[in-house]
Amino acid sequence: MLNAFLFVVLPYVALALFLFVTPYRYLSNRLTWSAYSTQFLEQEKLYWGSNPWHYGIIPVVLAHFLGIIAPGPMNVLLSNRQALILLESVGLGLGLFALFGCLVLMARRAQTPLLKPVTSAADWVLLSLLTVQAATGVYMALFMRWGSQWYLHTAVPYLHSLLAFNPQIAFVADFPPVFKLHAAGAFLIVALLPFTKLVHLLYLPVDFLRDPPILYRWRAPKGGEEG
Ligand code: HEM
Repeated sequence: MLNAFLFVVLPYVALALFLFVTPYRYLSNRLTWSAYSTQFLEQEKLYWGSNPWHYGIIPVVLAHFLGIIAPGPMNVLLSNRQALILLESVGLGLGLFALFGCLVLMARRAQTPLLKPVTSAADWVLLSLLTVQAATGVYMALFMRWGSQWYLHTAVPYLHSLLAFNPQIAFVADFPPVFKLHAAGAFLIVALLPFTKLVHLLYLPVDFLRDPPILYRWRAPKGGEEG
């Protein structure tokens, strides 16, 4: 029952929300489609949080996608012992880098008084989910060796079956809870994407979605020039 919820209901609800709410938000209120930069309120911790987070997580997520798109070539590549060790080590480094960045971003929001008024409950939910996602991923990379290999023979066929609308949960039903938490976390993140500032992630494949221009109006001092 729990498996059916985690591996069938949750992913399809997430997909439906992503497919329908995302364009709705874009079309109905373009100005909310933003990462809501807080760089002008605090810069230093942002640098140490945002850079490791983005430089760590983007290649790791792309590697997940590579497994889905090209499982055959990935399998050939990872069947080579040296390649497997090299890629797993780089992956682990990137995963730890991302986790570190996420923890810095959480600490930044908690410790910077200026950020409190601009931090919503949705920001906290999102940051917590991303931290758990990175932590469970790193845990698997460390203690459930060799994830990049077994991912191709379990999670990937399951994800393919989901995309073919014929979910085969037997591929993933017997995994330990940490894997289930990681998969469920991913679906929750997809589900929350259209409701949070994570929509800015879509700038990456679709550049025209970039932050909308902000119109500034300056109030000129009395008798001064208007800008
Ligand atoms: C929002 C989507 C996701 C994010 C942000 C994410 C993030 C991560 C991170 C940070 C790692 C650690 C990488 C490393 O240190 O090597 C990881 C590993 C892993 N993830 Fe995900 N993940 C996502 C979705 C998924 C999904 C949907 C699955 C499968 C159903 C999955 C399965 C795995 C596995 C098996 C590993 C271990 C890989 C290894 O041992 O090298 N992930 N993930």
